[in-house]
Amino acid sequence: MAGYNGCVNGGGYGFKIPEIQFTKLFIDGNFVDSVSGGLGLPSFLILLNEWRASSFIPMIYFTVPILWSPLGDDSLGKTFETRDPRNEEVIARVAEGSKEDIDLAVKAARKSFDHGTWPRMSGYERGRVMMKFAKLIEDHIDELAVIDSLNCGKLLRFTKKNEIPAGVHILRYYAGAADKIHGDTLKLSGEFHGYTLKEPIGVVGHIVPWNFPTPLLFLKVSPSLAAGCTMVVKPAEQTPLSALYYAHLAKLAGIPDGVINVVTGFGATAGAALCSHMDVDKISFTGSTAVGRLVMEAAAKSNLKHVTLELGGKSPVIVFDDADVDIAVSMAHNATFFNKGEFCASGSRIYVQEKIYDEFLKKSVELAKSTVIGDPFDPEVQQGPQIDKKQFDKILGYIEYGKNEGANLLTGGKSYGNKGYYIEPTIFTDVQENMKIAQDEIFGPVMALMKFKTIEEAIEKANATSYGLVAGIITKDLNIANRVSRSVRAGTVWINCYFVLDPSCPFGGYKMSGFGKCQGMEALDEYLQVKSVITPIYSSPWL
Ligand code: NAI
Ligand code: MG
Repeated sequence: MAGYNGCVNGGGYGFKIPEIQFTKLFIDGNFVDSVSGGLGLPSFLILLNEWRASSFIPMIYFTVPILWSPLGDDSLGKTFETRDPRNEEVIARVAEGSKEDIDLAVKAARKSFDHGTWPRMSGYERGRVMMKFAKLIEDHIDELAVIDSLNCGKLLRFTKKNEIPAGVHILRYYAGAADKIHGDTLKLSGEFHGYTLKEPIGVVGHIVPWNFPTPLLFLKVSPSLAAGCTMVVKPAEQTPLSALYYAHLAKLAGIPDGVINVVTGFGATAGAALCSHMDVDKISFTGSTAVGRLVMEAAAKSNLKHVTLELGGKSPVIVFDDADVDIAVSMAHNATFFNKGEFCASGSRIYVQEKIYDEFLKKSVELAKSTVIGDPFDPEVQQGPQIDKKQFDKILGYIEYGKNEGANLLTGGKSYGNKGYYIEPTIFTDVQENMKIAQDEIFGPVMALMKFKTIEEAIEKANATSYGLVAGIITKDLNIANRVSRSVRAGTVWINCYFVLDPSCPFGGYKMSGFGKCQGMEALDEYLQVKSVITPIYSSPWL
């Protein structure tokens, strides 16, 4: 595993690691430092302010530290480190936005929504600009792929061939939709003419997680741009780099200043400020269930802004006796271990019917053992490092739970190498429904393999979770496929395939996996609101 500093030529894998150009906040069309200074003074100021507010200390005491702040360790604004999960080394320091920066970004977005050109230009024109944006991303695909791989531990061949192109595809899909937004003509029961208008919802806050920095960003930004909204994007603190690059390309493409603002920083500060902001009309959040609850709470306690939530999953893959075992093993392997298991749609509960269970288990273990773990820039590698220490510790903690609760560890179960956040693909059997490893989202390379007898049992077990994001079914029997796909409470069902995501195909959860769709024309509706317009009609020949 090559170290970042030692491999500016890409560690001999035939690519260059680019210089990181964009590390500042992007507000109102400009890259700017965060308002707060270095030396941790912002938090000190906030604490002092709270203390002052609660203890009636005169303002003069409060103003003194402000005079100090330009003398901090980084007088150009507070920053935080972003790291390379291969070796834990710092890639760059990035501006750390706080509430004050969110206020400035929302102000810019508000101004451009209330008075700017973007919401007022035709959908056709917006679509043309978005197409230009997509082309610029394609022109920079090599650099963007390296940035996401470096920041997130993703296989380079995958970011280059799939993830950045997926972002472009999503953007083009919604660019094409921008001039196809329309309401209905209504038949009212009296002498009235009625119609609906679909209007942009306003200023949107997008809170993005770290597991797919590019596709998830474009799943949010693209439909909201097409709808005519303006926005503040808060990327995950682990993966801030590509979002800033996209802001730069958006400006080059001609997206007006203030339409897309990017505030990098932490969830509890920048993210929370966005969710509580009185001038934000909607939050689109993807991340943990726990934070999803906080987002809704903040929306409820502030201005009742709209919310869509794409949360976790504990998705089942159900393999029936008639399946081709080799194909099924490979699909289940991919469902669990793809992207190191850091995928909301991961299939981490694998239910296999009893007749093929033993063969399935043996072949699954062989496949897991053959996985090449290592530097995601190496084209031979199949699994890179987990995103960060916190996630690495969380996954290893769940593996311990599994062992302690009596599940049978068949393979893996340990970290790999002595540097970076690598974990071996892990398979447990004898997993009971009530065990933590069968209930909680682990978000790592851990498979729970379970046996079932009847179709009824499979349906019951598949639904025995608080989540409902996706489900997989592997069978050649159309009647089984039809029955199970209608019985499973999940927002997406994949039959004899897995992870087939397409911009035209609505995606989003049932139950505690959230609500509101991304992808498809449904996602456009998440950024529009319907206005009914009614006017009397006189002497019409019909109603
Ligand atoms: P998280 O939910 O804390 O972070 C996701 C995003 O929310 C980040 O941009 C973060 O800065 C922001 N955030 C955090 N606290 C916030 C707050 N109070 N207000 C507003 N925004 C806030 O997820 P985390 O801690 O990175 O991962 C924990 C677990 O969440 C993972 O192990 C996994 O199980 C799940 N997860 C699910 C994802 C999905 O695709 N549905 C993506 C990432 C994590
Ligand atoms: Mg968190």
